[in-house]
Amino acid sequence: MLYQNLIILVLVFCFPPTIFAENLECSQFSNCEGCAGQIDNSMKCRWCFDGNGTCVPSMYMCDPKYSVVHRVNCPLNIQEASSGFNETLNREVILYYIHAANRVASTSPVGAPMSCLLNLRDNFTLIREVEVNETMDSWSLGYIILVNHDLKHIVAGFRSTNHWRQLLMQYFVFMLNWLEPFPLGGKIVGYYLNSYNTILNSGFDVFINQVATKYPNYDFISCGHSLGGSLATVFSLHLARMYPDRNVDLYSWSGPRAGDETFVELLNQHVRKHYRVVRDGDLIPDMPLRVSEILPQAIHNGIEIFYPSHMAIGSYKVCDQAESQFCMKGSWWKSPFAHIYIFDGDFMNYNLDYCDYPK
Ligand SMILES: *[C@@H]1O[C@H](CO)[C@@H](O)[C@H](O)[C@H]1NC(C)=O
Ligand SMILES: *[C@@H]1O[C@H](CO)[C@@H](O)[C@H](O)[C@H]1NC(C)=O
Ligand SMILES: *[C@@H]1O[C@H](CO)[C@@H](O)[C@H](O)[C@H]1NC(C)=O
Ligand SMILES: *[C@@H]1O[C@H](CO)[C@@H](O)[C@H](O)[C@H]1NC(C)=O
Repeated sequence: MLYQNLIILVLVFCFPPTIFAENLECSQFSNCEGCAGQIDNSMKCRWCFDGNGTCVPSMYMCDPKYSVVHRVNCPLNIQEASSGFNETLNREVILYYIHAANRVASTSPVGAPMSCLLNLRDNFTLIREVEVNETMDSWSLGYIILVNHDLKHIVAGFRSTNHWRQLLMQYFVFMLNWLEPFPLGGKIVGYYLNSYNTILNSGFDVFINQVATKYPNYDFISCGHSLGGSLATVFSLHLARMYPDRNVDLYSWSGPRAGDETFVELLNQHVRKHYRVVRDGDLIPDMPLRVSEILPQAIHNGIEIFYPSHMAIGSYKVCDQAESQFCMKGSWWKSPFAHIYIFDGDFMNYNLDYCDYPK
């Protein structure tokens, strides 16, 4: 026994452990998914997509703008990504879902969510408005569940931040880079895990299951703005895992980063479409800040739809990476208005009254 151990000791001493590990050379990888994040002699491989694409072992061998370290950030097939985005649906349908969700609050008059939904041209049924107390910031969260019979989908819409305490608490969690294990896999931002549990405890699954049973051939849409956008992201995965036979589409507007790389890989796997609408100049989708490519941090999912500041019809760009230096990072100037005015709609969430929209 001692003899064996001695041999191992001598071996390890003479040959550094790396030679026992499989020696991968970045250059052997010919595509981004194979390359990004592989380890070559303790250096991370990165996909360099400037030109035809090469896999390189050092950050100094590629312009950072064209360098991919995380697999979930590999360039997308842009034709496929673009074909799933329906701008009209966002401007004329999702917009009212989100306006309605933002009014699920004791600070809004009874019937306020319905006043928004009445702008829809479709035949819909509002199933539930749920406001639930939240422990983390002693405030509340809100969501609606509705059914659109014409488009044959069940909607879960999540309210955005509507109190300064809630804003402050999220900011605090972002600054700490606080991530928590998510029961369905990966990690998500600590605040969202707390919200996830709070919403589940309010009976979310039971409410959803009642509608899902009643409309067995309807798909799901999960949507929201800002905090609501991130919660919609988390719940899109929840719904997709609950109903593996149905399509779940996610529309997150101006949402912060929700989860880590494993979480995003699960979204890619299970959620049919996930679009993030981002307006140039909005700082919030850049939260929690990614200070390093190496630390475990929240990372964006999916397909970013990047609008210039005026958000004119058809002016968007479908970004070919989840985290692209050419999209969300956008202009050097940032403005709170870019977060609050989306598609000519006012999404400032403070003591909201009935929807008087469109004027
Ligand atoms: C990219 O590939 C094309 C076709 O294979 C080739 O003609 C071109 O020289 C390559 N460019 C670079 C920068 O390697
Ligand atoms: C986009 O959404 C609108 C509104 O729901 C719908 O009328 C239209 O048919 C959709 N377009 C496509 C290409 O799916
Ligand atoms: C709306 O859809 C429901 C469910 O399919 C149906 O029962 C109802 O008759 C429809 N209403 C209208 C006005 O079409
Ligand atoms: C939520 O909090 C409010 C105010 O503290 C309280 O009046 C209400 O009963 C609480 N609701 C629930 C469901 O606990």
